[in-house]
Amino acid sequence: MSKKNIVVLAGDGIGPEITDAAVGVLRAVGKKFGREFAFDYKDMGGCAIDKFGVPLPEATVAACKAADGVLLGAVGGPKWDSQPAENRPEKGLLGIRAAMGLYANLRPAVIYPELASASPLKSEVLSRGVDVMVVRELIGGIYFGPRGTTADGAAYDTEIYSESEVRRIAEVAFDLAMTRRKKVTSVDKANVLLSSRLWRKVVVEVAEKYPAVELNHMYVDNAAMQLVKDPSQFDVLLCPNMFGDILSDEASQITGSIGMLPSSSLGTCKAGLFEPIHGSAPDIAGRDIANPIATVLAAAMMLDNMDMHAEARAVENAVGSVIASGYRTPDMGEGKRVGCRKMGELIAENI
Ligand code: IPM
Ligand code: MG
Repeated sequence: MSKKNIVVLAGDGIGPEITDAAVGVLRAVGKKFGREFAFDYKDMGGCAIDKFGVPLPEATVAACKAADGVLLGAVGGPKWDSQPAENRPEKGLLGIRAAMGLYANLRPAVIYPELASASPLKSEVLSRGVDVMVVRELIGGIYFGPRGTTADGAAYDTEIYSESEVRRIAEVAFDLAMTRRKKVTSVDKANVLLSSRLWRKVVVEVAEKYPAVELNHMYVDNAAMQLVKDPSQFDVLLCPNMFGDILSDEASQITGSIGMLPSSSLGTCKAGLFEPIHGSAPDIAGRDIANPIATVLAAAMMLDNMDMHAEARAVENAVGSVIASGYRTPDMGEGKRVGCRKMGELIAENI
């Protein structure tokens, strides 16, 4: 069995704690299933600025491109707020996404029945079920469009999409829908934005190749409202970069805690990048109270991407049984209180 090389980008804030927990779980998977994982720690984000002066050192990019999978904690924090915009920790994250060609960001939001009480939504809304897959375009749109400042001190960013950028992410969404409930809701602002009109046109073209999938279009403001009104209506939510950023945070809160949701970013590299959808939470860093579950579930998505499906299900089941046993980090609501490290150990023991 060949060894899998995992690059770990622990990052800043709670990043090192949550990736430690996930690596512990992966080691348990290795033991149980006879798999060999090598973990190669690289710097990205604020920690890289501190060591090398830049958020994304060349050595990190090279290691990620050559890896079988990249596991990321989180980057950023107030310590680096005074950095110029082009040298902020977040630039490291955006840079590695672009360098690895990771155009497809998959953010599943599912509700664990035991955690329903932590959700801000009423139980009668939740009882219809929440199983949404946000498919976010990740290396285009306003995040990467032309930007600048004008002579009179105004500032601008540009939402720009090419047909091929829309087509490839739409295909990911429709392919996924075929494995799920066969429904794609495409999010745009086509009543105002030209780029959204193009988005809609291309999505309609792609849909023609998937007659079994039901497609509907929703303006982003309405989608934000519908998501809290009745999340059960959504299966795959196909979004441009910024709308997906916003709606995935909203979707995560429906499930009770943003600390639960993993994401995978896939594209042109064989390795994907796997991370929690939450940030570096500098306010709770180093206190052993962060929830490592999103990162552990991101590791499960990485296992799937390496064709280790039984291993991935084992991780998900271990998370499920630890939750069912009542263990909770503080963000998860009432229960047997555990910290980040203990939560990771419990999941690893359950593998
Ligand atoms: C996310 C984050 C990032 C983003 C930030 C940290 C640049 O919010 O992954 O959702 O906006 O993409
Ligand atoms: Mg975000």
